[in-house]
Amino acid sequence: MCGIVGYLGKEEAKDIVLNGLFKLEYRGYDSAGISLYNNKDKRFELFKDQGRVAHLESLAKTAGASNLAIGHTRWATHGKVNQINAHPHESRSKRFVVVHNGVIENYKSLRRDFLNGMTLDSETDTEVIVQMIDTFAQNMSAKAAIQKTLGLLKGSYALLILDNKHPDRLVAAKNKSPLLLGKSDNGFIVASDLVALAKYSQNFAPLDDYSVAVIEGNQVRFFNKDHAPQEVIFEPMDFDDDLAEMGPYPHFMLKEIMEQPLVVRTIINKYFEDERLVMKPEILAAMAQSDRVYILAAGTSMHAGFVGKSLFEKMTDMPVEVHIASEFAYHPPTLSKKPFFVLISQSGETADLRACLMHIKSLNHQVITITNVRTSTLAREANHFLEIFAGPEIAVASTKAYTAQLIVLTLLAYAYGKQTFDIRKALSELAHAMESYLTDYETIEMLAKTVLTKRNAFFIGRGVDYYVSLEAALKLKEISYLQAEGFAAGELKHGTIALIEEDTPVFGLISDKRIALNTRSNLDEVRSRGARTVTIAIESLSEDEDAIVLPDVHEYLRPAMMVIPTQLISYYAALQRGCDIDKPRNLAKSVTVE
Ligand code: AGP
Ligand code: GLU
Repeated sequence: MCGIVGYLGKEEAKDIVLNGLFKLEYRGYDSAGISLYNNKDKRFELFKDQGRVAHLESLAKTAGASNLAIGHTRWATHGKVNQINAHPHESRSKRFVVVHNGVIENYKSLRRDFLNGMTLDSETDTEVIVQMIDTFAQNMSAKAAIQKTLGLLKGSYALLILDNKHPDRLVAAKNKSPLLLGKSDNGFIVASDLVALAKYSQNFAPLDDYSVAVIEGNQVRFFNKDHAPQEVIFEPMDFDDDLAEMGPYPHFMLKEIMEQPLVVRTIINKYFEDERLVMKPEILAAMAQSDRVYILAAGTSMHAGFVGKSLFEKMTDMPVEVHIASEFAYHPPTLSKKPFFVLISQSGETADLRACLMHIKSLNHQVITITNVRTSTLAREANHFLEIFAGPEIAVASTKAYTAQLIVLTLLAYAYGKQTFDIRKALSELAHAMESYLTDYETIEMLAKTVLTKRNAFFIGRGVDYYVSLEAALKLKEISYLQAEGFAAGELKHGTIALIEEDTPVFGLISDKRIALNTRSNLDEVRSRGARTVTIAIESLSEDEDAIVLPDVHEYLRPAMMVIPTQLISYYAALQRGCDIDKPRNLAKSVTVE
């Protein structure tokens, strides 16, 4: 998933690239590296190692002043997490240096067919690229060698390439993996995400698939798939860099949990005009032409999709199916005659969803992306998009983006279902209820300490509470590494109850009157078998012994309220275990590989 950054301009390139890498660490943090052109000694220097960008920063202290640099923060796909596999990768002759985000699917055959089976220094797929460019450049220009290499790659790549014969040139190329070019009066910066560009550029231009950008001196040229020059269309940067700072909080995750009332209010401001909900008419029209909605997503966004399904079923007559993106991409179900697709993705870059999008577009069906990043690939490439306005979410574990997704899905179902209840008022009440709960949650810290004493935990619920249980369990797994499962409360007794032993933590979620008593019975069943149960209930359905009681909100908005204590439980469980909360092991925030 890696993050890449490159800079060519009048400013100190090392500082700009390191700063960008710090911002991109959410994309992977197995290792970090930088290659830069030392202006004084007139040579390239390379620093890389296993570990975080902060470690790289100390390694690169000795680097000379530079106006050209490329950097990388890695989420390993091919080869162990170690210094040798860290990017940048150099060619044998040391002429070329590359950083890469993506996966080269045919790297083995390329090595065999074009490098005579050359023994590579690293175990990465990436190294093949740089060795091929170097090999081809022995008989042709660097430009032709790069073009030839790119033409042979199968898979995904965002690449930055340096050539020591041209220390005033930075070449960028991409297919599938995201890459954006930023421009300022002082130079150009290329990176995987706007968050790394924002501080240094007033304008930006996303690169298209198969395109190449050549930055030379104070000029940039784009070339399309057929190597023909392409117009560069810059858009003004509209990104508040300060929002991505941690402020007084010890972790981004806690900050982002606390920001949820603000996110609800932002969505109200963005989606309502004169107290009236404004939903893009073309989206409603496209949906009206369809006979079934297919929600595709991964992880937390998929869990939001399940809640979305239930909202659609309550507020409209539209049938909805939810599918795991990575499954749908290659094993699509039999589709209805007129399907409408909803892709949900915080980042808007998830490769599994991009694969779905390609398939959907090949069938000429209508598709909308619901995302937090309006400049993202999935937002740009779908027929329509809706923004969730959660603001930058930096912690790898998603919290405020999930609630924002729920709310935008609620608005879409409301508008499509021509509902008439006062949803604006209901949202304001939700923001208020979240705020009041978030000022008084000390019990959660204590619960996380005293209840989560085992290796595993269960979250159970029925209906929409079951969907929230799935998200609660994922959150706990992701950041505390406890084995957690979200379960339909009634299904537990059909097998999984065998795992319940003395003090196994079981959290029961109750926000739906119709099934409140059934879930309570299921909690009784596990309690009789020794489980340590914790009930999380909405006030009007609560009983005296319930551990966590949440303010009542409109029934359609309850999932957004119910999830909050579960996010805090995960946070405090991880804190208690000394885990790296914002950057949990093995994960990355933007999953740009399939
Ligand atoms: C969220 O906590 C996870 N890190 C992960 O499940 C995430 O939701 C998933 O990878 C999908 O990402 P997206 O929303 O950016 O598409
Ligand atoms: N495939 C490359 C590696 O393992 C890049 C990984 C990525 O972009 O996630 O180093």
